[in-house]
Amino acid sequence: MLVGCGAPRSEDPQGDARTIWETRCVNCHGVGGKGDGPAGMATSPRPRDFTDPSWQATIDDRGIRNAILYGGAGVGLNPAMAANPDLREKVDVTEALVRIVRDFGRSEGAGPPSPAGR
Ligand code: HEC
Repeated sequence: MLVGCGAPRSEDPQGDARTIWETRCVNCHGVGGKGDGPAGMATSPRPRDFTDPSWQATIDDRGIRNAILYGGAGVGLNPAMAANPDLREKVDVTEALVRIVRDFGRSEGAGPPSPAGR
């Protein structure tokens, strides 16, 4: 059990983020984050492939967070991607959602994650 590490503002930010991913995001971004969900296939441009290491290397966590909170229209991408204003006050859930997006970039055995210091 992961208890006692910090003061979580949500009872279960990871669980909440997982639920949000599955209910709000998978339809477009696909179960595996490749942008091949049924609704994602219909957007133009399509959602990008989150498993692409070169994209992972070019975006910082803030960029991912802003896309989630403000939607495509808020960050100059496809406005089909909706904003999620309810997450603005749920900082820990949003961070867990960013981690979910990040983890797709790590799941293909592309080597150890590079430290986020560059
Ligand atoms: C209606 C379909 C749809 C839904 C639902 C959706 N997205 Fe998106 N998402 C997109 C599209 C389309 C883009 C932008 C593609 C482009 O313009 O290059 C995008 C962009 C993004 C980006 C930025 C990628 C980049 O290139 O910088 C992130 C991060 C992201 N989405 C995460 C999420 C998360 C997390 C959720 C669930 C809370 C979600 N999306 C829900 C369609 C969707």
